[in-house]
Amino acid sequence: MSQDQVNAGTLAINGGAPVRTEPFPGWPVFDDREERLLLEVLHSGKWGELTGDKVTTFAARFAEFQGAKYGVCVPNGTMALQIGLKALGVGPGDEVITTPYTFVATASAALLLGAKPVFVDVRADTCNLDPERIEAAITPKTKVIAPVHIGGQPADMDGILEIARKHGLRVLEDACQAWGAEWKSQRVGALGDLGTFSFQAGKNINAGEGGIVVTNDPELAELSWSLHNVGRVRGGAWYQHEILGWNFRMTEWQGAILLAQLDRLPEQEVVREKAARYLDSALGEIEGVAPIGVDSRVTRHAHHLYPIRYDRNRFGGKSRDEFLAAYKAEGIDCVSPGYVPLTSSPAIHRSIAEMFGTESLAQLDTCPIAEEVSRDVFWLNQMALLGDQRALDDIVSAIRKIQAAWN
Ligand SMILES: Cc1ncc(COP(=O)(O)O)c(C=O)c1O
Repeated sequence: MSQDQVNAGTLAINGGAPVRTEPFPGWPVFDDREERLLLEVLHSGKWGELTGDKVTTFAARFAEFQGAKYGVCVPNGTMALQIGLKALGVGPGDEVITTPYTFVATASAALLLGAKPVFVDVRADTCNLDPERIEAAITPKTKVIAPVHIGGQPADMDGILEIARKHGLRVLEDACQAWGAEWKSQRVGALGDLGTFSFQAGKNINAGEGGIVVTNDPELAELSWSLHNVGRVRGGAWYQHEILGWNFRMTEWQGAILLAQLDRLPEQEVVREKAARYLDSALGEIEGVAPIGVDSRVTRHAHHLYPIRYDRNRFGGKSRDEFLAAYKAEGIDCVSPGYVPLTSSPAIHRSIAEMFGTESLAQLDTCPIAEEVSRDVFWLNQMALLGDQRALDDIVSAIRKIQAAWN
């Protein structure tokens, strides 16, 4: 078997036919609802947020969907994080406590405002920020705790909010992967002071790009609105800028798509939840692969990612990445090795050293669990969970096949 054949998927890595030759469900999913709404925007001539009604309608509907009073749409989740941190008063020299097992934007948003991300390790069972380690990282400069609901599983918001209250800190939820997720029957996003969501192309709600800030606090909502609209105030003159802000306004095209995508989310989440339950039990029977645990206080998981912990000792000592190469050759291509922890990110190292001095790099050695998770865990993406029963069975049997070949 040549490497080309393996790459082309015509042969499984161990020889013979791959377990799966059909593709997994494609993404995005859309129908005439998106088409109708897009055409409505086109013909209205109102293509920007300040003249049309799609963005503002979506902002109100999505905020309500998350159990929040207010929503401000922005072009992407990264900008939502920047607005959120800025609205919470984060500026040069402040510290933001967060997890290293996340997308770079959670930390870069702080750095881009001149603040230092301070990384606290994750819980090995859930891969989410561990509240028990937060207090040791608090300093007089700490302003915000920014948990991430990774993969769609809410972080331990009871523990995080308790510490924040005790120390007078604000809480920003990076809920960029957690549309509809619930902690103890309450939707995430506005459990803390403010939350952010992403609608980027791979996300369960997808407008190509998109983001939103949600909150229950009217002052934070107004400030976020002003920050996203070049410092304007509602009802003010066009050239009246009361504070410095950005043009982080969403287009009506995005708003139109999002209205249709939000309608479709609940039915897709039922399918993802059912698939996750099936995989939990089927993979639970295979030694060496363990679905990441879900905290019993999580009453709804958004299932953006389905993370699986891999134990090389049960696979003939082969690394997670060798396994993923074999898995892909078996036709299971809906997988990712996942994040490089931000404590190992060259961009984060460089900017922390430049902005705060090399002595600040010592804190990047304090998250061994995140390092281990990044080495041993891989993800199935959300599209895999939209597959039919045959697709789910292929996901399981390819693992069994590889394991049998390597042991
Ligand atoms: C946890 C997390 N935070 C922030 C972001 C940034 O969102 P966006 O890609 O829309 O800028 C993402 C999306 O990739 C994310 O997954």
